[in-house]
Amino acid sequence: MPLDMAKSILVTGGAGYIGSHTVLQLLLGGFRAIVVDNLDNSSEEAIRRVGEIAGESRENLTFYKVDLRDKGALNKIFSSTKIDAVIHFAGLKAVGESVQNPLLYYDNNFVSTLTLLEVMASHGCKKLVFSSSATVYGSPKVVPCTEEFPLVAMSPYGRTKLVIEEMCRDIYHADSEWSIILLRYFNPVGAHPSGHIGEDPRGYPNNLMPFVQQVAVGRRSALTVFGNDYSTTDGTGVRDYIHVVDLADGHISALRKIFEDAETGCEVYNLGTGKGTSVLEMVAAFEKASGKKIPLVIAGRRPGDSEILYGSTIKAEKELKWKAKYTIEDMCQDQWNWASKNPYGYGSPGSTNYK
Ligand code: NAD
Ligand code: WQD
Repeated sequence: MPLDMAKSILVTGGAGYIGSHTVLQLLLGGFRAIVVDNLDNSSEEAIRRVGEIAGESRENLTFYKVDLRDKGALNKIFSSTKIDAVIHFAGLKAVGESVQNPLLYYDNNFVSTLTLLEVMASHGCKKLVFSSSATVYGSPKVVPCTEEFPLVAMSPYGRTKLVIEEMCRDIYHADSEWSIILLRYFNPVGAHPSGHIGEDPRGYPNNLMPFVQQVAVGRRSALTVFGNDYSTTDGTGVRDYIHVVDLADGHISALRKIFEDAETGCEVYNLGTGKGTSVLEMVAAFEKASGKKIPLVIAGRRPGDSEILYGSTIKAEKELKWKAKYTIEDMCQDQWNWASKNPYGYGSPGSTNYK
């Protein structure tokens, strides 16, 4: 069934890594995107570039620099525009930082979501897609993880995801007019094939591929490999890496379900590829794509890391009619394209994005 092409989607955190790629796919898919972001971990340049790639559809893009905890500002946006659904990406995501400063995470991730949901309810907007995370599976005894696996919080960050998931289930049970899709992402990597938008972490990169990318462009000297004594083929940790454009498309599929299926309820889906790749396999694929040697320093295991984590994608394939298309080679190729064109991300060597 074709969608009404004028649906307006409010995208929180739409200037960020996954958000910017999703906003682009929304515009290209004929939606209107209203981005709300406080630019805490992103740059307005990402939004400008999304508009550039979107061409004529850029007229359907609006940006508000607003913190989600600012209820008054949110109310104003909902009063001035009829919002058909919300995709909620905004949040802080550094696991280690959440252990050091849990209140920051409860305030920024939980309070902002509470505020958003209150404003949505008061304006009768009851359609939501939320960014959850595979972190809620902890260190499972078996893989692939299915959506029914037991859930566990390994950090305050993970606990905010679990609590928000539970809050969404409670809201739906109290009021079945809500349609909510909780998406548990595995490890998003890569960039839009244009090389104009990509991941640009502030400060020290916590995740594998942003670090590899910064080594490749000469911003860091070597990659520290956290453990080579796991029970995996080469001893390094295994994860389910997914191309960020595939992930973005997963949100469009989720929205379609919400708009087309009145019985959506509150459902959870894994977004991954269903395949595991080790740290050394990722490094080798990136070296091949970039032609750059990535010097390695082997170190001990990172506390809290699981050995092997990948997800089952069967439920998303069946019910969202979505399946990841891109390979590890594509992810590395596109990540290198972005990195080589933008070695300092959206910033410059002197800007705050470069530390
Ligand atoms: P990101 O940091 O690039 O994007 C998040 C955006 O939210 C940023 O632009 C930031 O400025 C904004 N933001 C943060 N707090 C805000 C607030 N209070 N008000 C308004 N804007 C605010 O991160 P990302 O990788 O794009 O992640 C998006 C979402 O996906 C997050 O909720 C994250 O927890 C979740 N997630 C990410 C990963 C990953 O590995 N990248 C994996 C699983 C889940
Ligand atoms: C991947 C692999 C590391 C960096 C994290 C969050 C999770 C989710 C996704 C938000 C592991 C190894 C890494 C480095 C390394 N985010 N590694 N050297 O840990 O699977 O998941 O991001 O929800 O919640 O925990 O991703 O990219 O940090 O690590 O050897 O410098 O790379 O040990 O095996 P992770 P990652």
